[in-house]
Amino acid sequence: MKPVGRDYRIYGERIYLRPITEADTDMVLEWRNSRAVVENFIYRKPVTKDGHLNWLKNKVDKGLVHQFIICDNVEDTPYGCVYLQNFDEENNKAESGIFLGNTNRRSGIGTEAESLILEYCFDKLELHKVTARVLSYNEASLRLHEKAGYKKEAYLKDELYIDGKYVDLVLYGIVNSDYIKARS
Ligand SMILES: CC(C)(COP(=O)(O)OP(=O)(O)OC[C@H]1O[C@@H](n2cnc3c(N)ncnc32)[C@H](O)[C@@H]1OP(=O)(O)O)[C@@H](O)C(=O)NCCC(=O)NCCS
Repeated sequence: MKPVGRDYRIYGERIYLRPITEADTDMVLEWRNSRAVVENFIYRKPVTKDGHLNWLKNKVDKGLVHQFIICDNVEDTPYGCVYLQNFDEENNKAESGIFLGNTNRRSGIGTEAESLILEYCFDKLELHKVTARVLSYNEASLRLHEKAGYKKEAYLKDELYIDGKYVDLVLYGIVNSDYIKARS
C-alpha cells in the first residue's frame, strides 16, 4: 500500500481521523503503555520511544501500516489511535487495531472510530476483507467489533501464553459485501 497522504482526513459526526506524525509520539506512547491498553494487547512489552520511532519509519512511512489519530471535531482533542496492519495485497485484506487513552473510554468514540476505519477500508482502499484479533476477556473490544459489523469467525482456545497464563483468542472478520448490506 502507499502511505497515507499527510493531509488526508476521514470525518465522522463527533470525531475525525488524521494520519499519525512524529509529533504525536509522547502522547501515543502514554496511551499504548497504559495498563488498560497493555493488558488487552497480545504484545505486552513496553513500547520505547526508539521502538515507536522505528515503527513510524519502517512501517507507517512505508505504507505497511496506516495509522490514524482519533480527534474531536470541535475541540480537536486527541483520543486514541486506530490503524490497519498486516496488509495482504494478494488476498486484498488487512487487520485493524484500536486503542484509546484512559480518560476517553465508554462514550462511543471507539465505535465511531471503528466505523470510520471500515469506511476507509472498503470505500477508499477497496479491500475485500478486514480482520481483528481480540483477547476473549476484552468485553469492550468484543462488543465494539460486533457493533461495527464484524462476524466472529473463530474462537481459539488457549491460543496464547501471556504472563504465565493461557489465553483464548477471538478472530473477527468483515467482508465488503456484508459491510455494504449492513450500511444500506
Ligand atoms: C476497546 C476500546 C477501543 C473501546 O472504545 P470505547 O470508546 O470505550 O467503546 P464504546 O464507548 O464505543 O463502546 C463500545 C461497546 O462496548 C461496551 N463497553 C465499553 N467498555 C466496556 C467495558 N469496559 N466492559 C464491557 N463493555 C464495555 C460499551 O457499552 C458499548 O456497547 P453498547 O453500545 O452495547 O453499550 C477501548 O476500551 C480501549 O481502548 N481499550 C483498550 C485497548 C483495547 O482493548 N484495544 C482493542 C484490542 S483488540
